[in-house]
Amino acid sequence: MAYLLNRSTAVAVIGAGSMGAGIAQLAAQSGHAVRLHDAQAGAAAAALGRIAADLDGAVKRGKLQADERATVLARISAADTLDALGGCGLVVEAIVERLDVKQGLFRALEKLLASDAVLATNTSSISITAVAQGLQHPQRLIGWHFFNPATRMKLVEIIRGVETDQALVPAMHALSKAWGKTSVDAPNTPGFIVNRVARPYYAEGLRLLAEGLAPAAAIDKLMVEAGGFALGPFELMDLIGLDVNLSVTESVFQATAYDPRYAPHVIQQELVRSGRFGRKTGRGFYDHGKDAAPRSVPTVAVAASPHTLPTLHFASHPGPLLPLLQRLQAAGIHVAAREGLPDDTFVMGDTHIALTDGRTAAERGAANDGAPLLLLDLARDYATTTHLGAAANLAGAAHLPALAGVLAAANIALIELADVAGLALMRTVCCLANEAADVMTWTGTTARDIDTAMLLGTAYPIGPLAWADALGAARVSGVLANLQAHYGEVRYRRAPALSRARFDNARFHG
Ligand SMILES: NC(=O)c1ccc[n+]([C@@H]2O[C@H](COP(=O)([O-])OP(=O)(O)OC[C@H]3O[C@@H](n4cnc5c(N)ncnc54)[C@H](O)[C@@H]3O)[C@@H](O)[C@H]2O)c1
Repeated sequence: MAYLLNRSTAVAVIGAGSMGAGIAQLAAQSGHAVRLHDAQAGAAAAALGRIAADLDGAVKRGKLQADERATVLARISAADTLDALGGCGLVVEAIVERLDVKQGLFRALEKLLASDAVLATNTSSISITAVAQGLQHPQRLIGWHFFNPATRMKLVEIIRGVETDQALVPAMHALSKAWGKTSVDAPNTPGFIVNRVARPYYAEGLRLLAEGLAPAAAIDKLMVEAGGFALGPFELMDLIGLDVNLSVTESVFQATAYDPRYAPHVIQQELVRSGRFGRKTGRGFYDHGKDAAPRSVPTVAVAASPHTLPTLHFASHPGPLLPLLQRLQAAGIHVAAREGLPDDTFVMGDTHIALTDGRTAAERGAANDGAPLLLLDLARDYATTTHLGAAANLAGAAHLPALAGVLAAANIALIELADVAGLALMRTVCCLANEAADVMTWTGTTARDIDTAMLLGTAYPIGPLAWADALGAARVSGVLANLQAHYGEVRYRRAPALSRARFDNARFHG
């Protein structure tokens, strides 16, 4: 069957909450006549008010002409009853996230609408197949997952259920494009792409915090300054709402038959139990009140004195640390190569400094009779980062200030981390890449769709699979293997696609 969805298609949006209002506005801005319905009396009218206010803002900022504002608003009407939606060619459902309620709604809609009307659900966590269950024409129901705020976020995920007509997919991609969105094909598996691949960002952050890697503010600082993420995991959870974030985690956990990898963390559960939901309640990981103390992240004080900074001796294969070496050299530090040093390391006096590989400094130092060892965390770009994290074994701790002195010459601040396996950024990035590779493996989703979704849906600095390509599948796989050995937990099991890429020396992005 051919599906024709264009400006002349009348669109019904059901549910006039945050998502429905945004989707209705978007549809009207794209030229459609829109009918907005909500079960709660007055909700659609209130949403129209919010839409008008948003358009007013656009006019004030010079992004929209006043007459266009009027035209867009005139295209949207509130529909008091479901019956008033008859004749619409596309329904976008954005009601409460409950399967029984969504199923009931679509079954009622089938009675009102033509048999070729397209039914789209904006569910973030429910199986599209389940939503379509019991319909007479389940082939015309599809997942169309927008992100909040729908008017501004560029991404939509398009999800087929078992019964969804394949011919509907290109029509939805075309419509997404006409609405100014970038669309990806996402699998009908828990969390689709974005809400699934992003899980380790929160989960590993919470585990690192629990294990005492560093305070939340220090972890956030590293993820932003050294990692290039827009927000650290704790700031982000506070923004999303800890309750909302926990409920996504719980729904993925449940839908994966309680795979322990997705288990909610007790720190988050406790904050939610105490009503600390983040910004919206004024407190979460951080205090957001007016009188909140400014956040400070202590950095390692530079060692007092030496008149001359030590010479650094680098391994012949410094790996990802090469740009750091070049930067330090440009800052006046004397560097020289030394034969026989392990890859990804350098030496400062009698202190060995190595890029983390997922083992603790204690474990690596023990292989060298407990000699002083410092482990550096990953940076997105060692040539420009303003901060770096480092951990030490017992004998190495006294040498952190000397390292801070060397880094300070290149204007890099050092954040002290506890000796927790994989540190902050390396561990998080490897887990994100592994999750992405898992989605690829088990659902056939392309690397391009996954990375596009993560770039546009979460504002990561680089797609997790492109990041894995840059680090090399062997390195990512090695870090995960070390984490698995250290913790003895299945959560760090490697995705088959990652293991294959490692042995084939292959890249995810061709
Ligand atoms: N908020 C997000 O960030 C986000 C992002 C993507 C997808 N989603 C999904 O979008 C949907 C809506 O989320 P939201 O955040 O806009 O919720 P919301 O609570 O802001 O709004 C839901 C609206 O639906 C109405 N409603 C409930 N049952 C109804 C029914 N049977 N018929 C008509 N109206 C009904 C409610 O009165 C409410 O106004 C959910 O499925 C959610 O999972 C949310």
